Amino acid sequence: MKITADQLRNLYLEFFKSKGHAVISGASLIPENDPTVLFTTAGMHPLVPYLMGKMPHPAGTRLTDVQKCVRTGDIDEVGDSAHLTFFEMLGNWSLNDYFKKEAIGWSFEFLTTKLGFSPDQLSVTVFKGEEGIPADEEAAAIWKSLGIPDERIYRLPREDNWWGPAGETGPCGPDTEMFIDTGKPACGPDCRPGCHCGKFIEIWNDVFMQFNKTAEGKFEPLGRHNVDTGMGVERTICMMNGLDTVYDTDVFAPIMAKIKELSGKASFETPEDVRSSRVVADHMRTATFILGDQKGGVTPGNVGANYVLRRLIRSAVRHARRLGIAPGFTEKMAATIVDEYKHVYPELEANRERVFQELLAEETRFGKTLDEGKREFDKTVAGIRRKNEFMGAKDPAYVPETQISGKQAFRLYDTYGYPLEMTQELAREIGFTVDVAGYQECFKAHQKLSRANVGSAKSGLAEHSEETTALHTATHLLHKALKIVLGDHCNQKGSNITAERLRLDFTHGEKMTPEQIRKVEDIVNEQIKADLPVYRDMMTLDEARAAGATALFSNKYTDEKLSVYTMGRTREDFFSKEVCTGPHVEHTGVLGHFKIKKEESSSAGVRRIKAVLEK
Ligand code: ALA
Repeated sequence: MKITADQLRNLYLEFFKSKGHAVISGASLIPENDPTVLFTTAGMHPLVPYLMGKMPHPAGTRLTDVQKCVRTGDIDEVGDSAHLTFFEMLGNWSLNDYFKKEAIGWSFEFLTTKLGFSPDQLSVTVFKGEEGIPADEEAAAIWKSLGIPDERIYRLPREDNWWGPAGETGPCGPDTEMFIDTGKPACGPDCRPGCHCGKFIEIWNDVFMQFNKTAEGKFEPLGRHNVDTGMGVERTICMMNGLDTVYDTDVFAPIMAKIKELSGKASFETPEDVRSSRVVADHMRTATFILGDQKGGVTPGNVGANYVLRRLIRSAVRHARRLGIAPGFTEKMAATIVDEYKHVYPELEANRERVFQELLAEETRFGKTLDEGKREFDKTVAGIRRKNEFMGAKDPAYVPETQISGKQAFRLYDTYGYPLEMTQELAREIGFTVDVAGYQECFKAHQKLSRANVGSAKSGLAEHSEETTALHTATHLLHKALKIVLGDHCNQKGSNITAERLRLDFTHGEKMTPEQIRKVEDIVNEQIKADLPVYRDMMTLDEARAAGATALFSNKYTDEKLSVYTMGRTREDFFSKEVCTGPHVEHTGVLGHFKIKKEESSSAGVRRIKAVLEK
């Protein structure tokens, strides 16, 4: 049966409405009550309090919806035929209302009468039981009563037939999964539902949520018989339309068409191009949904959900470049995606401008890094070629070098943010290779070095811990805030940091007023709240000064590369930029609340501040 995503959503919701379910709105992609996960990963996730029985759901005990989900566990697999980081999940729930008989019966009815699958195509799995939790013979018997023969009812262990919790704790239970036999030959005698050869495709999962996983890892009976089901929209329409990949479905049609248009190619022929086009499609769709979410607040950054978003956008930018797509494409992709989905997810339209702005800013930021890195790469290659020419002229037997050294590859990574695989890709294009083992050695040596650096007097750090790292970053913010409030003459004279507090000595002639202290605190806290990324770049002292960095020491001339830490929206639009050995947090948002505890005289013309970060 041919079907579009719109038709499938409607069929599903109408069907469950006819079975007494209230159609509820899907929730935000950003989980409300679960700090253990970054994104909403399943339809049940926003319903956890109700599944737990903490409170009644206002819409009743039978619910159905379509939920936006992001799962990043397989982010590196994206580009094959099936993996996606964003997908839509159709679901129906019983909040201690109906149980296995109804849930399985309705799943069977929907698959066979509404989606047109033949019962002969259907195989199912049920939980085979383990110590303390019996096998789900009840589910098996229900499937049998519906006409599924025993040889197509597979009893499998917990790895296959247990679902949840979505985060680290919460409702979970045994499930029964439904698979469509594509009719392809079995890959071997052990081929069964759950095998990845492509013969059996999972279409739906009914979870019987009777247990609660505790923080200690125990499974306690919930005392409630909930049902939680999930059916993936993209995968289902792919299968129903007899397509090979999700990227061939109607939801991806306009997105793939846009990628072709922007790249000027009628089709993608090489496996690398096909993969790149899929990564761009998937990642741009996910990034657009995260930025366009009703809850908002996730912007590209260096930790947690912010980092996932940054990674998605940057990876899309890299793959778009591979395809020859010109800069500025993220906004065009997002426009296509917003237009396609806004009738289902009006929040995308409402947040259209924000989505565009954030994408453009991140694309530009990363584009600059890429350009700098590319210039550096070209310089390296030119150097190798010059040497080859020179040596070749001297010695006809000389074998030209065609390898980027590990050290050079590491420099590209460390200073320009070039991932190893990108350097490899560039090298491949010109018939060069990269010394990967050498790269890894440099990587390890660097890690050791940063650890060893940590006690360094220059940083004023006695030891390296999360606390001291955070206080160290706060010292930079404080230094800058003092310059703003008291004047540019406030220069750091000394710093001492323990796990509990920071201490900063700075040049200033008078006692600070309570008003000035409050202003300084407010400025620092504003910068923490703004959750600024912390960038680290290597440059000479002259370059650092030219970029506007504060350097605490007036070093004699040296062309040694120093690390410069920038805290700002971008490297150019910054709040603080200082030459420093680090270490620093990746993001000011993690610092907590900044408070000045003491302001006193240290010596003539030097004041001393002691301050803390309150969690
Ligand atoms: N929560 C279940 C799943 O994601 C239905 O498969």
